[in-house]
Amino acid sequence: MYKILVLPGDGVGREVVREALRVVQKIATLAHLVFETKEALVGGSSIDQHGVPITDEVIKAAKNSDAVLLGAVGGTKWDGLEYKKRPEQALLALRKELGLYANLRPAAIDPSLIDSSPLKREIIEGVDILVVRELTGGIYFGTPKGIEKTADGERGFNTEVYTTREIERIALKAFEFARKRKRKVISVDKANILESSELWRRVVIGVGKHYPDVQLSHMYVDNCAMQLIRNPKQFDVIVTTNLFGDILSDEAAMLTGSIGMLPSASLGDHHALYEPVHGSAPDIAGMDKVNPIATILSFAMMLRYTFNLHDLSLAVEQAVKKVLKDGYRTFDLAGPGQPVVSTSKMGDLILERIQH
Ligand code: IPM
Ligand code: MG
Repeated sequence: MYKILVLPGDGVGREVVREALRVVQKIATLAHLVFETKEALVGGSSIDQHGVPITDEVIKAAKNSDAVLLGAVGGTKWDGLEYKKRPEQALLALRKELGLYANLRPAAIDPSLIDSSPLKREIIEGVDILVVRELTGGIYFGTPKGIEKTADGERGFNTEVYTTREIERIALKAFEFARKRKRKVISVDKANILESSELWRRVVIGVGKHYPDVQLSHMYVDNCAMQLIRNPKQFDVIVTTNLFGDILSDEAAMLTGSIGMLPSASLGDHHALYEPVHGSAPDIAGMDKVNPIATILSFAMMLRYTFNLHDLSLAVEQAVKKVLKDGYRTFDLAGPGQPVVSTSKMGDLILERIQH
């Protein structure tokens, strides 16, 4: 029996998780498995109920489960709150408490969606990138940080810090994944300016020595942002820091046509969390409109990385491919004149196509 903690969160989070849970049940039935799912509040919905973005009980439940499936957190309603009480803090707490230092964000273009991408066909056809983002260090967590009064106003500050150990373990992950792919790692930093990046680059080179079969190169982050648009096919695995990875993974996502398609896995040595890359999209929440594919594909990643059920993972991914090939589109993917299906309809269509 597999234990999944389900955290729908806010906004469209509830709707996308609902569709993913139908896929969980379908896989359970097909493969004669039992997934025990337990739901809890996180983000704004936890703030409304308990006054905090995540409670200790939920952190504990996450630690006691085999994997966490998360929808999305945040919304305009909670934007005015002081920093430490915002919905986003729930995500940061989960990442830190569960030690989820490796964030995998694959961005591969589905052949059926080439025309949904804002880039030309010849540039994006065949794009298949894995962003490996460091997730528990860097400027997101570095100290000192704060806002303090000064003689003539205020001063806001954060600190970018990386230790050898933090860099080593994320680099190891990147090289390991590259071995299962095209054996090419591009490490992204700002080593021409930042000391933390200077160390980053040195440590990545050191780890790379143990992977002579993987080609390692380095790119400054500003150049990488440009290269992702100019020639995305040159990338296989990108390994980078928390902040650079946050930005570059949104950019990579858009290459594929819609951020509504992209799943993610956040892995540590003992725990794992799976969530769509998109946010809570309050403007379309509750309208049965959001694309559930990113969350359904996040469950496919869970099957692969937490449960080692590769065939079942593939079965879910194939069903998604099929539905797109058959021409069904949620609003974010539809071109002019193309019919649009709702969130729940997209769920139905994917379920029908899951075969094992
Ligand atoms: C992401 C998000 C989060 C981040 C926010 C919501 C804290 O943008 O997962 O990319 O910055 O990491
Ligand atoms: Mg982000």
